[in-house]
Amino acid sequence: MKLFHAPASPFVRKVTVLLHEAGAADRVALIPVAGNPLDPSTMPVAHNPLGKIPALVRDDGATLYDSRVITRYLDDLLQAGLYPAVPPLWDSLVLEATADGIADAAVLMRYELHVRPEASRSPDWVEAQWQKIDRAISAVESHWMSHLSGPFDIGHVALGCALGYLDFRHAGRDWRSTRPRLTAWCAATMDRPAFRATDPAA
Ligand code: BEZ
Repeated sequence: MKLFHAPASPFVRKVTVLLHEAGAADRVALIPVAGNPLDPSTMPVAHNPLGKIPALVRDDGATLYDSRVITRYLDDLLQAGLYPAVPPLWDSLVLEATADGIADAAVLMRYELHVRPEASRSPDWVEAQWQKIDRAISAVESHWMSHLSGPFDIGHVALGCALGYLDFRHAGRDWRSTRPRLTAWCAATMDRPAFRATDPAA
């Protein structure tokens, strides 16, 4: 299998964390992609018409995207056990969607601040993205700590990748000071071998 990949992407990291958690990192060849959203020639558009990463080319030649499809596929293929049975599955998927929303807003902030030409940047738009992230992190601190203290699942993977991206690209934003439980959870999660192996700052 081949994975179109940039180590900074929190969505790519979901896939590589899953591979490491499953002990199967060597099953996938990583194909580096620059992924400049203003330049389709830096994107795998022949494999994903949206040009986005991650995109996974299976051994039979078919391509899967986006991260939620790829993680579900790899979990099934590798029997990684990151998707619980129904009904607790719904909680795991809502947590994953919340974490992916945090990552999505954080990537849009990054693009606005570093890819969009300076004269057209909107500080209000950046702050609106941060408000979305801030609300979601507060919701996790208030409602999800019991789930996060349970069995490691795809929601844990996605949340670790989203928080890791905040620290990597938005280190000046203090999300920790009013969220002591999530702060402790994040420190323990970043210490897992799969997260250490996929640290974009390493
Ligand atoms: C980044 O460099 O922050 C980035 C790269 C690829 C996808 C998303 C984010």
